[in-house]
Order: sequence, then structure tokens, then C-alpha cells
Amino acid sequence: MKFILTTSQGIEDIAKKEVETLIKKIGLRGKAEERPFGVEGRIIAEIEKSYYLDEKGKKREFEIASFLNENSRVLHRVILQISSTKLSRLEKEKVLKEIYDFVLSSPVEKYVKISESFAVRSFRKGEHEFTSVDIAKTVGSAIYDKLSQFGMPKVNLDHPSVIFRAEVIDDVFFLGIDTTGDSSLHKRSWRVYDHPAHLKASIANAMIELAELDGGSVLDPMCGSGTILIELALRDYKGRIIGIEKYKKHLKGARMNALAAGVLDRIEFIHGDATKLSQYLESVDFAISNLPYGLKIGRKSAIPELYMKFFSELSKVLEKRGVFLTTEKRAIENALEENGFKVIHHRLIGHGGLMVHCYVIE
Ligand SMILES: C[S@@+](CC[C@H](N)C(=O)[O-])C[C@H]1O[C@@H](n2cnc3c(N)ncnc32)[C@H](O)[C@@H]1O
Repeated sequence: MKFILTTSQGIEDIAKKEVETLIKKIGLRGKAEERPFGVEGRIIAEIEKSYYLDEKGKKREFEIASFLNENSRVLHRVILQISSTKLSRLEKEKVLKEIYDFVLSSPVEKYVKISESFAVRSFRKGEHEFTSVDIAKTVGSAIYDKLSQFGMPKVNLDHPSVIFRAEVIDDVFFLGIDTTGDSSLHKRSWRVYDHPAHLKASIANAMIELAELDGGSVLDPMCGSGTILIELALRDYKGRIIGIEKYKKHLKGARMNALAAGVLDRIEFIHGDATKLSQYLESVDFAISNLPYGLKIGRKSAIPELYMKFFSELSKVLEKRGVFLTTEKRAIENALEENGFKVIHHRLIGHGGLMVHCYVIE
């Protein structure tokens, strides 16, 4: 079985590794490929079908998609692939006709019973003359026409039994069954307090992976609503987990989120100022944070000074590694250099429509 897995741009390698580890854990064979056709934010996983005997001795198929939906921390969607292709045409009418014909020749009838309702959700990225609505309409009518050969198809756009997902990313077309549903996996159910600049849980987990934690203490010095710390506690991390946040409102929200996640007793929340870090902590092994970028919070001109003061304090307490996310390349690089930190890894990650710089430092 082939799955198209989605995640944020720039963390495909981490998602691939996670999927390979998960399937190995339950004894399945499979392999994953990041960025199929060069498409960012996508992984294709080919996983062998597996069966078990239920309590009545009946052979049943193991639900790999449910397993991935339940256990992944980095994926956004798990899509059972029906077919994919490179589109050869660019003009609107021709490309939509090509998509229609391609869907019509795909075995969509294998994935939806005629008694079940369906809907198409679409996604488009790149330069095109058509919209995602055009894609949904085209794919929807091709599926309808194909299913009509077997009976009367049922469309239900609001509460479908089966969700087809059609994606056009540049010149690549993917068609599959969206097993995740309408809410992406990065939207965690524990998020009862919505911070205006919260981090996607998938990226928080990627940052945790990049930190290569060893059980030592972990600090998010500007923890906002607590995403990184809560996700870390949910991974059953055994070391100390500490969060500092300057604004009471966000700290209260972080506590509420941690409570909703069932990990409030695992996190030490401190109401404080990260530019005075050494007043609260003598030492910490790891620091992971998405820093204020100044776009959504406060004055942008205050950022270089904030970073300079914060990294100066961090240099007094950090024992091992730090992982930081920001759009402010120059401000962070100046502050890191000035305070004697070494960048051991850098990458760009897509977050909220921006490419954000991620630094691993020592
Ligand atoms: C980008 S947000 C972090 C969001 C967080 N990762 C989440 O998912 O909710 C940055 C946070 O840093 C906080 N902050 C700004 N200056 C601070 C300072 N000097 N000390 C501590 N926190 C600060 C802001 O209030 C904001 O909540």
C-alpha cells in the first residue's frame, strides 16, 4: 500500500525517519521516500499489507493508516494513494481535461462503496491558471462519472463517509483517500488556549528531534502557550521540563493547555523574562524555542536587542544544545556570534506561509 504523507516543508527527513521507525516497531516492512517528484512537504511510504486474526478467528487487515494517524507526531495527513502523475500541460482547460481523464482511468471505485457518500477536498500550490475549486470540481465530476457505472453515487460535501484528496503541486497531481479527515493532525486536541503565534505541534516535534535530547533538562525560555514543552512531555520525556514566559496571559494559557494534555504536573512554568534567565536557573542542558519574530508580537525594532540580551543570558546557563526558530536571520546570527555560540545545523522550515530559519547551536 502506498501512502502520501504530508508535513511542513523542510522537515520531510524527520517525518520519513519517524514513519520508518513506527512501521518497524510493529514489525511491518516498508520504505519511505521524501519529496516524491521533488515535492516539498510530502513523503511517499510504501508499506506491506499485514493481517491478524480477530477473536472469532477471522482474518482482518491491520489498519496502517489509523496506526499512523494515532502515533505520528510530525505528520499532518495520511493519504492512501490511489494514483499520481506529472501533468504535461499548463493551459487551464487542457490541464483540467488531463486531470479529469486521469481520475476517470484511476480505480476510484475500489475505495468507496456505492452506498457511501463522498467529497473531494483539494489543495493547490504553485503557479497555475486554475484554482483549487477548479481541481475539486474536475476531480469530483470524474469520480461521479466513474462511480455512475456502478449505481447512483452520493455526494455529501459537509459530512462525507469517504474524503478524496486531490493535490496539484507545481506540475504533480496526487489523488488519494484522506484518512486523516478535515482536521490536520498538527491541530492538537489539547490546544484549549490559542496563542496568536503558536507553533505547529509537528514543527515542535521536529525541533525536539533536532535537539537530540539525552534525558537532561529542557527549557523553552519564551514558551508562549507551551507547545514545545507539552509535546515533549507527551513523548514521556523523563528529564526536567521548564518553561518561561513574560506574559501572564500566555502562561495561564500554557498551563491550561498542559492541563488539557494531561501533563501539567510534568512542566515547571515560570513567569519571567528570558533576558534575565540566570536569575531563575543556574544551568540547563537544552533550550528549544520559537523566538518572537516581531511580526505578530511587539515592535520589530526591539528584536535585535532582545536576542542579544537573551543569548548573553543563555550563554551563562546552557550546557549542551539549543534549537531556535526565527525569521530574523541577521539578529539571531549576530547574537549567537557575539555570545560565543556555534551553529552546528541550519535549515529552513515552512511555517505560517513563511520560510523560517531553524538553528541548532552549541
Ligand atoms: C513565538 S511566541 C512562542 C509561541 C509558542 N512556541 C507556542 O507555541 O505557543 C514567543 C513568545 O515569547 C514571549 N516573550 C517575548 N519576550 C519575552 C521575554 N523577554 N521573556 C520571556 N518571554 C518572552 C512572547 O510573549 C511569546 O509568547
